[in-house]
Amino acid sequence: MRIALIGSGGREHALAVKIAECDSCNKLFIIPGNPGTRQVGENIPIDKDDHERIISFCLEQKIDLVVIGPEKPLIEGLTDKLLEKGIKIFGPTMKASRIEGEKSFAKNLMKEYNIPTAAFEVFNKENYDDAINYLHKVNYPIVIKADGIASGKGVIIAGSYDDAKEALKECFVNSSFGTAGDKVVIEEFMLGQEASIFAITDGFDFILLPAAQDHKRIFDGDKGKNTGGMGAYAPIPFLNKKNLKLVAKEIIEPTLKAMREKKSPFIGCLYCGLMMTTQGPKVVEFNCRFGDPETQVILPLLEGNFVELLYSTACGKINKEAVGYNDGASVCVVVASKGYPDKFENGFEIYGLENFPQNIKVYHAGTKEVDGKILTNGGRVLDVTSFTEKNDLNKAKKIAYETLSKISFDGMCFRKDISDKAFLQTN
Ligand code: AMP
Ligand code: GLY
Repeated sequence: MRIALIGSGGREHALAVKIAECDSCNKLFIIPGNPGTRQVGENIPIDKDDHERIISFCLEQKIDLVVIGPEKPLIEGLTDKLLEKGIKIFGPTMKASRIEGEKSFAKNLMKEYNIPTAAFEVFNKENYDDAINYLHKVNYPIVIKADGIASGKGVIIAGSYDDAKEALKECFVNSSFGTAGDKVVIEEFMLGQEASIFAITDGFDFILLPAAQDHKRIFDGDKGKNTGGMGAYAPIPFLNKKNLKLVAKEIIEPTLKAMREKKSPFIGCLYCGLMMTTQGPKVVEFNCRFGDPETQVILPLLEGNFVELLYSTACGKINKEAVGYNDGASVCVVVASKGYPDKFENGFEIYGLENFPQNIKVYHAGTKEVDGKILTNGGRVLDVTSFTEKNDLNKAKKIAYETLSKISFDGMCFRKDISDKAFLQTN
């Protein structure tokens, strides 16, 4: 099979490694890829947002399957355009991607189908006064979310009325999130541990991959600003089989049904961000794609034929036996540039990237190669990921941090507590 993978981050490096490992993959192109993906496939320097060139490339190269990593091309309809050309694609259509691209769409869907989520109201820029009045009635903290995609930065947790009013001003007056903030969802604050669950689905049937936990805040102990994710681990000890069954029945099944009834069946990876509250699991958000950095820890835990899973799903009949959980554990520590998630500098040489053992993968997230040297080229630079044969998160954590100690670059930053939340729960 000839496969094209769209994207250039750590998630795509992890997907590329997993796809290239499968016997059914004869040729893998990554558009545009990064210095890491070059080790397992051929990078093609086409911008991931240049749909026309991507389509021409896929036709010329007789691509059998396209896999789309990031949300932007999905939300902007790349799937629809490829489907029109008869190309098989793993990833939802533009209409189905609204589940991530428009938070109000996802929230209204959940309300209509009784899918557990935080109570909410939606306000437009034109209803600024109504939104302010609403802020007088709610309990604090409260969560204010830009409706559209805002690179993970469009969520503000406001501790008081004044903070919430300020957040509304950022959206409606200062346009801090561009047009994504012209509409907001104001929702109840939920307490609990977070979990990310990926459902691979052909629109009807689905399988759940091992659950992972992201670490969104920049500093240890979940302090500081929200980021794109500072690390992850899988599986989650406190999400047992009973809980997962509940998630499948109360959240995934009705969501897929709702999407079918809205004439936008969801085909691909439905990312379900959950809060494990005292009243049970509730949806924090849906994404229309694999999560980053969760993918980096979930894929090493799959045995079997990952390409067959993606291809059968894209063909409309998921092969639920294609992959299984290998009973292992995985920890990924994200290595970031000093200053991230605010301003940071690029271009520092990275040392120590050679000779890792089998149970380590150092995925490239924000790097570039110049004259044979690997340089930093992004806020999140590397995803140092370990995996163990048995489900031993302690060991996986130890290996990940030992590996990290051999890598260096100027201004290198990382959290030291990735996966500790799992241990807190199990003790
Ligand atoms: P989102 O982009 O919707 O996933 O939100 C980013 C992060 O904000 C989540 O991962 C949570 O940590 C936090 N968050 C979002 N919504 C809520 C909520 N209703 N209650 C508590 N925390 C939330
Ligand atoms: N890990 C969060 C996301 O992929 O959106």
